[in-house]
Amino acid sequence: MQISVFGLGYVGAVSAGCLAASGHTVIGVDINPQKVDCINGGQAPIIEPEIDALIEEGVRKGRLSATTDAGHAVLNSDVSLVCVGTPSLPNGNLDSSHVESACAEIGGALRRKVTPHLVVIRSTLLPGTTDALLIPRLETTSGRRHGPELGVCYNPEFLREGSSVKDFYNPPKIVIGQDDAANGRTVAEMYTGLEAPVVRTSIRTAEMVKYVDNAFHALKVSFANEIGNICKQASVDSHEVMSIFCMDRKLNLSPAYLKPGFAFGGSCLPKDLRALTYQARRFDLESPVLGAILASNGHQIRLGVERAIGFGKKRIGFVGMSFKPASDDLRESPLVAMIETLLGKGYAVRVFDPYVSMNRLVGANRKYVAEHLPHLSSLLVDSLEELMAASEVLVLGHASEHARAATLAARPEQIVLDLVGGARDLRTAGRYVGMSW
Ligand SMILES: NC(=O)c1ccc[n+]([C@@H]2O[C@H](COP(=O)([O-])OP(=O)(O)OC[C@H]3O[C@@H](n4cnc5c(N)ncnc54)[C@H](O)[C@@H]3O)[C@@H](O)[C@H]2O)c1
Repeated sequence: MQISVFGLGYVGAVSAGCLAASGHTVIGVDINPQKVDCINGGQAPIIEPEIDALIEEGVRKGRLSATTDAGHAVLNSDVSLVCVGTPSLPNGNLDSSHVESACAEIGGALRRKVTPHLVVIRSTLLPGTTDALLIPRLETTSGRRHGPELGVCYNPEFLREGSSVKDFYNPPKIVIGQDDAANGRTVAEMYTGLEAPVVRTSIRTAEMVKYVDNAFHALKVSFANEIGNICKQASVDSHEVMSIFCMDRKLNLSPAYLKPGFAFGGSCLPKDLRALTYQARRFDLESPVLGAILASNGHQIRLGVERAIGFGKKRIGFVGMSFKPASDDLRESPLVAMIETLLGKGYAVRVFDPYVSMNRLVGANRKYVAEHLPHLSSLLVDSLEELMAASEVLVLGHASEHARAATLAARPEQIVLDLVGGARDLRTAGRYVGMSW
């Protein structure tokens, strides 16, 4: 393929060197003439293991060159990769001005080109930026309409500085946000030979994926550091602890607990987080990440209440009340917290939860109900039908067969608020609203 690469920093230089080594013809573009001279002299404009040899070889074999002339690069390529920087503005917002300029230069050059052109954005961008900002910019500067003559895809980069060439050849995944299947295929062909799962999705999803990855990586570092700080004070070897933690691929390093939805609760997580953060305070340690978890959880419960009352209806029925399906444990159930708030605000609440009935509750659960929700029995109904008849809004608190049955049986005027996502695939039935989707 004939590829132009805009921006010869870490991402652009590595992409250019590696794509040339894969057999493509690559023209790098940068506004900085020193970086252009570097490449044309067969040298890498960045310090990274293995990149020098790739660039030297690419230039020597005539597959890699660089220019400050965007027009030359666009006229001699079918695909332009945009890898320019997207730094932080003083207010924290993303500075997309470099990407906008690069798109304007590509668009301007396209006025002199007759064949179709595909623009692939690789810079990290907030979701919606490509659609709202870059495609219009490309359209106005090129005089083309977004479509067969002007394709646009978003293809985030996952390399890490220090191992960027290795990461380019062994990416964790190749994510292609495509405007059209044929353009997505072209992007995928650029990476032919790389062994990685290829995901083709919407442009917005691909933009968001990059932020989720980076936010999660940052969270992991800070989480591990806070655990390490507590371990040190408690005379526990933090590395041994985290090695054991990482062995668990079922619950810890796994997809478990990573689906957006409602708050956590139950008899363990809230209690144990409180104890751990209290211990950190006793050690005079700051643990802002651990400390923020319960606050975030409380916020999710308040958001659930806001969603439920936002429809302006008074009669609200819950499918599920215990902290998770198939359990009668009501201790610290976020659904109980939500129900209590709604009752306090004067809403008429009814609950169907086949695992919870006063007759069946025993021991700790019975005591919890007596102390925290003494009027529980008056809220409980015996059947889903009864709940449906009594409710204007149905809140699905569990992903259960009953939640699905309620969604399917909802009357047209009945609103279904799914807190946990168990009925996402039934979204067209009735008036379905997802908690965070
Ligand atoms: N550095 C990383 O490890 C990494 C990893 C993945 C994604 N990213 C993302 O990739 C993007 C690029 O990051 P980077 O670290 O390579 O940036 P960088 O700052 O190292 O390089 C950006 C380059 O773009 C050039 N440039 C600016 N405007 C231009 C224009 N109009 N035309 C041509 N060139 C122009 C600059 O001169 C510079 O050489 C950012 O959005 C970043 O968030 C970076």
